[in-house]
Amino acid sequence: MNRPFGYATHLFRMAGLFVAGIAAFLVARAIFVPKGFGELGHYRTSALDDVRAQKPVFAGRAACGDCHTDEPERLKSGPHAKVGCEACHGALGAHASGETDVKPTRPDPAKLCIVCHLQSVSKPATFKQVDPKDHMDGSGNCGVCHDPHSPDKEPPAPPAQEQKKP
Ligand code: HEC
Ligand code: HEC
Ligand code: HEC
Ligand code: HEC
Repeated sequence: MNRPFGYATHLFRMAGLFVAGIAAFLVARAIFVPKGFGELGHYRTSALDDVRAQKPVFAGRAACGDCHTDEPERLKSGPHAKVGCEACHGALGAHASGETDVKPTRPDPAKLCIVCHLQSVSKPATFKQVDPKDHMDGSGNCGVCHDPHSPDKEPPAPPAQEQKKP
């Protein structure tokens, strides 16, 4: 048999496979690597623009003070001074930037307060906790006695109930 390259032909076949493999890799790479990758190192540059384009979900308590003056003032002097407005009210970025006219709902103290104050052995003992069933009248209706923005350590008695007529 005539073999101009002797038995080395199978090496050319191998080399051909390698070249095809590398070509396929380069094509796939061009398709899948996003634009801007590598301009600032191992990073997609336009990711910065994507992040910048996102609207903040939270406004921060400083923003609330632009329009609401009473609550920030009350909060400052009470034990909730360090609790952020949006920790209780939820994210209100759209409300604070005026993007929506929808009035935020008022949190229900009967559900809200125990999110943080419910008694649990996993909480530090220094943090004031209550068992709603044992605490005071056991109603669990925290807002009747406590002002959420400035809960007194010793709040006044709850509003007197109407006396039942005999
Ligand atoms: C651009 C001004 C503005 C900013 C900033 C703003 N608010 Fe308001 N907020 C309003 C207006 C106006 C109302 C509607 C008042 C009304 O109709 O009684 C309102 C209503 C509310 C209500 C419902 C009040 C009710 O009577 O039921 C809550 C709660 C509230 N805002 C919380 C917040 C919090 C928390 C922030 C900060 C994240 C905030 N707001 C930032 C203007 C603002
Ligand atoms: C500890 C939780 C908590 C924090 C912190 C808090 N709020 Fe409230 N806020 C409430 C609850 C609960 C109500 C509903 C009270 C009700 O309906 O009796 C409320 C009601 C309101 C209202 C309606 C009017 C009123 O006074 O009842 C506004 C406005 C308001 N909050 C703004 C703010 C702002 C601004 C901040 C930050 C400076 C803030 N809140 C921080 C729990 C909180
Ligand atoms: C986001 C968590 C959070 C929510 C919700 C919350 N609180 Fe608090 N509360 C705190 C923190 C933090 C303190 C301060 C604890 C400290 O300084 O040791 C505090 C302190 C208090 C204190 C003072 C305790 C003392 O003797 O020093 C009272 C009373 C209180 N909260 C009642 C309430 C009531 C009522 C509600 C519902 C309207 C409520 N809290 C909702 C976090 C919360
Ligand atoms: C009937 C009125 C009333 C209701 C309802 C009420 N509290 Fe109180 N709360 C008080 C009084 C009075 C005190 C102060 C006396 C005390 O520490 O036992 C107090 C104290 C606290 C303290 C401080 C406890 C401490 O160890 O110093 C926290 C926290 C608290 N309440 C949270 C709540 C939560 C959360 C709710 C709702 C599940 C609630 N309260 C419902 C009247 C009430």
